Amino acid sequence: MRNCKSDNCKDKNSNCSILGSDSLPVQCVGSWAEDKYFYLEKYLNASREARRKFSDRGNAVFIDLFAGPGKCVIRYEDKEIDGGGIKALNRDEAPFNEYYYFDINETNVKALEKRTSKSSNCHIKCGDSNVLINDLVKKLLGYRFNRYHFAYIDPFGPDALKFNTIRELAKLQRMDMLIHFPIGAIKRNIPNWIDKPNNILNEFLGTNKWRDKSNIKMIYDKTYRILVDIYKEQLLSVGYPEGGLKFSEEDILPVVSVKNTKDRDLYALILVSKDIKLAQKIWNSIIKSNLDGQGSLF
Ligand SMILES: C[S@@+](CC[C@H](N)C(=O)[O-])C[C@H]1O[C@@H](n2cnc3c(N)ncnc32)[C@H](O)[C@@H]1O
Repeated sequence: MRNCKSDNCKDKNSNCSILGSDSLPVQCVGSWAEDKYFYLEKYLNASREARRKFSDRGNAVFIDLFAGPGKCVIRYEDKEIDGGGIKALNRDEAPFNEYYYFDINETNVKALEKRTSKSSNCHIKCGDSNVLINDLVKKLLGYRFNRYHFAYIDPFGPDALKFNTIRELAKLQRMDMLIHFPIGAIKRNIPNWIDKPNNILNEFLGTNKWRDKSNIKMIYDKTYRILVDIYKEQLLSVGYPEGGLKFSEEDILPVVSVKNTKDRDLYALILVSKDIKLAQKIWNSIIKSNLDGQGSLF
C-alpha cells in the first residue's frame, strides 16, 4: 500500500518509490494530470471520423515525445491510470496505425516497452526528443502518400522542449499537436532568466522576444498571456495558418488552462493544427465544455 505523505516519496525520475500493480514503475502525478488525459481523449474521440480516412488505409501516426513509463499513480489517491500514450494506443475507434514514443529515461522506456509489448506497431526510443525528432521527421517525410500525424507533447517543464522540435514536426503536412505549455513553471522561473541572455525560455519559445521592453513590462504586470501570444507568432512562422490557431472568433491561441486546487495555473494545453476548419472547431467545442470549469484563460 502506498503512503504518499509528500513529494519526497518520489524517486529521482519522478516515479513512485513503489511499483505499480503490474510490478512496473509508475509516474507519481497530481490529480490535475487527469485533466490532461480528459482533453487528450476528448480530442481523439471527437476527431475520430476525420482520422478514420487515414487510419483505414494505415496512414495515421501518433507521436509521443515525452512518453513516461505508460502508467501513473495519482498522489494521495492510490489510483493507477494509464498515461496519455497508452490511452491513445488502446483506442478502439479509428486507432492510429503507428506509434512513436520517446523518453530520456531508461527506466521509463523499459517499463513502456513491457506495457506495449502486445502491440507490434510501437516504436520506442530512449533519448532526448529534441535530438531524436530529426530522424523521425526525416523518416516520416519519406512517405509520399498523405498521412495524418498527431503529436502529444507533454514535458515536465520548459527545459525539456525546444521550439526547434516543434519546427521539425511542422515540416509534416498534416500535423496536429497537443502541447503542454508549462505556464506555472515559466512564471516561477522568469526571475532567474531575466538577466541571462541565453536561457531556457528562449529555447522553449524559439525566440528572445519576451525580453523586449514592452513584453517585460507585461510580465512584471503579471500579464503572462504575452508568452502565449509570442508562441502563436512562432507557430505562424513555421507554417501553421492563423485559422488553425484560433480560439473561437478571437485572435488568440486556443488554450485551456489547468489549475491546481489552490486555483494556480499549472499548465495550459494548446491544440495546433493546419486544418483551419475541423480541428479547431472540435478543440474549441471541447475546451468550452470542460471538466469542472477549468477552461478560463489565464
Ligand atoms: C510529464 S512526464 C510524461 C507523462 C506522459 N506523457 C503521460 O501522459 O503519462 C515527462 C516525461 O518526459 C521525460 N523527459 C524529460 N526530458 C526529456 C527529453 N529531453 N526527451 C525525452 N523525454 C524527456 C521524463 O523522463 C518524463 O517521463
